[in-house]
Amino acid sequence: MGGAVHLAKRFFGSLKPGPPESRDNAWALRHFTEGETKLWKQMSNPDKRHAIAVANGVGMELGPDTPREVIAAALLHDVGKIDSGFRTAGRVVATVFWVINNSNNAEQWTHKKSIVGRFARYRMHPKIGSEMLEAAGAHPLTVAWAAEHHLPASQGTIPTDIADVLRRHDDD
Ligand SMILES: [Fe+2]
Ligand SMILES: [Fe+2]
Repeated sequence: MGGAVHLAKRFFGSLKPGPPESRDNAWALRHFTEGETKLWKQMSNPDKRHAIAVANGVGMELGPDTPREVIAAALLHDVGKIDSGFRTAGRVVATVFWVINNSNNAEQWTHKKSIVGRFARYRMHPKIGSEMLEAAGAHPLTVAWAAEHHLPASQGTIPTDIADVLRRHDDD
């Protein structure tokens, strides 16, 4: 990965305060089911702004006939970060932790209340997010994309052409 540059962009990007533009937020809301709207409202402002940038890029590339669930997938792919309880600084540290320590046994720690548990939950945000979306009754494609958005393309289950576009516009 282009690690340092992406992390730096992410760090400075996430310092920018405030909610997304209300016009952008209204656009996002038009793509959600009721359950998805509840999840969206719990996301942090930096995560919402990131999600809108991704979804906007996807919508521009795929055009006006982009299926609702694809835009919803772009908007909600990181929804599992709600659960990590991290604010911006911790988020950056957690990202570094993830990059350095690409461990296969984070899942066993996710129930812990300590900082280790919070790191583990952050590390597990794709799985946690997909479970939240499934419980909220999201479309199967939206659920699947949350689960697999950090996996290599070869391990994906959603149509490759859609996954490629979603992945290309997600820079974290
Ligand atoms: Fe993610
Ligand atoms: Fe992302």
